[in-house]
Amino acid sequence: MTPVYLDYNATTPIDPAVAEAMLPFIHQHFGNPSSGHEYGQRARQAVEEARHEVAALLGCHDDEIVFTSGGTEANNYAIKGIAGLAGPGAHIITSAVEHPAVIEVCRFLSGSAPPPKALGQVTEVEPEGGEFHTKTRGCSLTCLPVDEHGMVTARQVADAITGNTVLVTIMHANNEVGTIEPIREIADAAHARGIPVHTDCAQSVGKIPVNVDDLGVDLLSIAGHKLYSPKGVGALYVRRGVALEKLMHGAGHENNWRAGTENVILIAGLGQACRLIRDNLASYEEHMKRMRDRLETALRDAFPGLHVNGHPRNRLPNTSSVSFPGAEANHVLDQLDGVAASAGAACHSDRVELSSVLEAMRVPLEYAKGTIRLSVGRYTTPDEIDRAAAEIVRIVTSQIPSLAAS
Ligand SMILES: Cc1ncc(COP(=O)(O)O)c(C=O)c1O
Repeated sequence: MTPVYLDYNATTPIDPAVAEAMLPFIHQHFGNPSSGHEYGQRARQAVEEARHEVAALLGCHDDEIVFTSGGTEANNYAIKGIAGLAGPGAHIITSAVEHPAVIEVCRFLSGSAPPPKALGQVTEVEPEGGEFHTKTRGCSLTCLPVDEHGMVTARQVADAITGNTVLVTIMHANNEVGTIEPIREIADAAHARGIPVHTDCAQSVGKIPVNVDDLGVDLLSIAGHKLYSPKGVGALYVRRGVALEKLMHGAGHENNWRAGTENVILIAGLGQACRLIRDNLASYEEHMKRMRDRLETALRDAFPGLHVNGHPRNRLPNTSSVSFPGAEANHVLDQLDGVAASAGAACHSDRVELSSVLEAMRVPLEYAKGTIRLSVGRYTTPDEIDRAAAEIVRIVTSQIPSLAAS
């Protein structure tokens, strides 16, 4: 029997309708979208139709969508693009629970060697004089701490803004614990001081409604492989009027936003994936929540004190980060027969690598070490949930009998 896949936050399978939409561009329509002849125009049409689908899903204009190689590139472009135009001395505000695709970009720009940690206090990282190789690297960074649910507040953002702040970048939903950040309030606070806002929506698009005007953001990243389209494709929304320093230099593709011949096959897939979400989001969301709640109920029945990480209400419908104090996450995952999930911490013989998200949330060490992330998706079935829950209960109970209900 194939293992039950409970790692949809890591990546998703390609929806059959998405695969179908890509096929003509594998088999027939190979033209370069920049070519003026019929072959090229067929490819161009596919790219523009896909752009329209992404824009329609996010509630923006087609010309505000730039295709990228994924969520990481979209985040790099947004953050480096703003910082690059601002030049040295620019100040960026982010949070302690961002994905490396944001936090590492900020670290690069601020020249900060150790990762900015924000355990209960604001961490200011000042540029190290003379060490920058390009003007973009002279940034300073404020990495905001989060509460025990992984939440940042608009008040924190407002208080962190300085005269040099050029960008606020806070994720929409967290990949490990599913907490949904108050982006609208954060954007309002930043805009009151004239600061643009970027949000990483790699984990939220396809799970909850995402609309650029409802969120009030200026830049927004999406990642194809988190929403049932292929790996290696994504998009950046850039609000009209926002200027970015280029990340990819070359010819004038993507309306001169991103050089490089468009990956027509993957872009066609991303467009179809966005269309499916626009048509079916409510039912996807309802299904994921039902499966996730069924899983948590089964685990709670077996372990009455079950600790679920993340915000009690503002949480993605598919994500369940559960802690089994005393257990070692990787040990649990290794022993699970037929369940694919991921760990919140990696224990090595000489050290424990905690997730920076759980650390920022100040999840106690005993709990953080025993945290596994279970993320359900469009194709998860009740039968799979029941099988997975029974197996998790069996393994955790065998490792830590005291956790089980008597
Ligand atoms: C929140 C978040 N941002 C960005 C990324 C990176 O996206 P990609 O894998 O498309 O580069 C991920 C993927 O794990 C993610 O979870």
